[in-house]
Amino acid sequence: MKPIIQGNVAKNCHPEGLLKAIDKQIAYVESHGEIYGPKKVLVIGASSGYGLASRIALAFGGGADTIGVSFEKGPGEKGAGSAGWYNNVLFQRRASEKGLIAKDFIADAFSDTTRQNVIDFIQQEFGGKIDLVVYSVASGIRLHPDGTRYHSTLGVRGQAFSGPGFELESQRMVEQTLEPVTEQQLADTVKVMGGEDWQRWITMLEQADVLAAGFKTVAYSYIGPESTWPLYKEGSLGAAKAHLHNTADEINAQLQRISGNAYAVICKALVTKASAFIPVFPLYITLLYKVMKQKRLHETCIEQMHRLMLDHLYPPLGKVTTDAQRLIRMDDYELRPDVQNAVELLRRQVTADNFMVIGDFAGYLQEFHELNGFGMAGVDYSDELDIHTLVKEYS
Ligand code: NAI
Ligand code: NA
Repeated sequence: MKPIIQGNVAKNCHPEGLLKAIDKQIAYVESHGEIYGPKKVLVIGASSGYGLASRIALAFGGGADTIGVSFEKGPGEKGAGSAGWYNNVLFQRRASEKGLIAKDFIADAFSDTTRQNVIDFIQQEFGGKIDLVVYSVASGIRLHPDGTRYHSTLGVRGQAFSGPGFELESQRMVEQTLEPVTEQQLADTVKVMGGEDWQRWITMLEQADVLAAGFKTVAYSYIGPESTWPLYKEGSLGAAKAHLHNTADEINAQLQRISGNAYAVICKALVTKASAFIPVFPLYITLLYKVMKQKRLHETCIEQMHRLMLDHLYPPLGKVTTDAQRLIRMDDYELRPDVQNAVELLRRQVTADNFMVIGDFAGYLQEFHELNGFGMAGVDYSDELDIHTLVKEYS
């Protein structure tokens, strides 16, 4: 069985390989320092990328019971289902082997009904209070509780931005363009990827009185080096992230009553389903990977999230470290001047013929495949997967 990729989107996945990938993340946290942190955690956007890594770090590195919310498809008449679906099932298996509670809501995170269902579960079966909410949703659409459907647009402000990027499907370098967004598209992108829905979660949870004293909440964000600002920070996604950063301060004020705190966490750029989708950006990731691996600074989702929980959010002396804007900076290694200077040197050498060797294209591809359970050692990929077996084993 082979991975099928269209454009930069994976079209299939391999459950056995996904289990290996989860076990690899579990093995990492189990051997890198115990987190003395939250015991009851809600992860919104839990099935892949940063959300899944957060959940694994907290459960297997800190013994937390977890609730996950995600939007995924299981195996059935319409196909073999999404990687995130299997990640949830496999995470649950491993968690229950450890005697940990792992509950999943496969539901729309933007819906008040989902929020209410989660609250009911917390009150009836999860001990009544939670210590941490991780908000890690990446989505292109949001159905607002008032019935409006918002779409996000990946675009820039001002003039169109063109640059070299690559396509995973053809493994070719192509010129990619981010078009300017209209004011409306900008506002809509902020509605989808800004902080409003995060705040709605925390407000509803707080009103239901399910937040423990000293409660914390984090949402993930990106800023990146100046070289990427035209396409990210100063574009539509950046506007949404700026809104998210302001929302962190609003939620933080809201939580004073229970001595709680809210933080936006600036993460490093890495390979996920969501980041592969952004034009031009993956090429930067390959250059960054090359440099960070050479300098032995490379981190994937699990290393980032384990370090976040261990050193930043739940440090031994209890003091959360932030920058002057109250942001938690997990992009400290990425933004080191020596790293960015080296990336810039590589960028000047990139051509359509050499981009695979100038940047760490092989490493990018390996991580992308791993997200979908491919390329894992010890997995037999020779047989096609049978849908009936998948339904029986993973539904
Ligand atoms: P991902 O695509 O791996 O994960 C997104 C998660 O959101 C999945 O669990 C998915 O099921 C869930 N989701 C999407 N729509 C949903 C809906 N309507 N209802 C419920 N769940 C839904 O993405 P990734 O990269 O882990 O992104 C998470 C956050 O991290 C995003 O805010 C992203 O901007 C941020 N981030 C990502 C970086 C990267 O390089 N990948 C860098 C810095 C921040
Ligand atoms: Na996530």
